[in-house]
Amino acid sequence: MKGLAGKRVLITGASSGIGAGMARVLAGYGCKLVLHYCHNQSGIENTLADVEAFGAEADVFRCDFTRLDTLEAFFEQAWDRFDGLDALVNNAGIVSKVTALKDPKGEQFNQTLAVNLQAPYQLSCCFAQKCIAAKQPGRIVNNSSIHGQQTCEWFSAYAASKAALDAVSKVQAVEWGQYGINVNVLAPGVVPVERTDRILSQEEMKQKWTGAMPVGRYGTTQEMGEATAYLLSDLTSWMSGSVLTLDGGLIARGNYPQR
Ligand SMILES: NC(=O)c1ccc[n+]([C@@H]2O[C@H](COP(=O)([O-])OP(=O)(O)OC[C@H]3O[C@@H](n4cnc5c(N)ncnc54)[C@H](OP(=O)(O)O)[C@@H]3O)[C@@H](O)[C@H]2O)c1
Repeated sequence: MKGLAGKRVLITGASSGIGAGMARVLAGYGCKLVLHYCHNQSGIENTLADVEAFGAEADVFRCDFTRLDTLEAFFEQAWDRFDGLDALVNNAGIVSKVTALKDPKGEQFNQTLAVNLQAPYQLSCCFAQKCIAAKQPGRIVNNSSIHGQQTCEWFSAYAASKAALDAVSKVQAVEWGQYGINVNVLAPGVVPVERTDRILSQEEMKQKWTGAMPVGRYGTTQEMGEATAYLLSDLTSWMSGSVLTLDGGLIARGNYPQR
């Protein structure tokens, strides 16, 4: 894809699911990758082996985003690995599902906001400061969710984190446009990953979900990777502060009865 070859990209949460898909696609387009994980060491080893099989240069760093005081040191390592970065993909996230009354003190709420909102906020600030100091442009893609736009029961923490991530991305796009730093959001719908595959592949569940999607099927991690590549490529050099929703039409349809 236009302008991607040789770009140095940090992808957080690349040990499984969408982040691993992004890594494979970006490796195929010739990017150099700094891959992040937290708990899943075998997962990140698989992602690393996959991207190296594409001939991509890549390395791995670990950081627990609930430890917000460690983010700066983590980012320094990532920035230095290839002598700078051209892009940051904030993908790592916790998909917390809990009713508000089961988390009245907001412990899960705060943890979700730390990983899904505060960590990408801080990492984006580190990235922007470095780009500005180096007088170089930069690209940021924040992996949000359709829950940032429309949500349902169980998702107070998750929806709050993603709606706020959408908002922060717009503000950062406004503040950093003058430095040539574009900030955009990817908002996926339902994409089966290792974490959800067993449930989403059950026939009843599959019919329920895909029946609600005009396109009639789940998304794939490959498609999320291709969309990320698009957002990092020269094809979108005039795009900033946008939310790119990929959900097979799920939230466009709304709640009207089936005709
Ligand atoms: N799959 C979907 O349908 C869907 C839909 C909309 C949005 N999303 C978003 O897509 C992103 C990736 O999710 P996924 O579905 O691909 O799930 P996933 O496979 O569970 O990936 C989550 C990633 O986040 C990392 N992570 C979890 N806790 C962390 C922590 N405390 N510190 C740092 N990293 C941590 C995980 O690393 P370790 O496993 O190594 O700890 C993993 O790499 C998330 O932001 C999610 O909200 C997913």
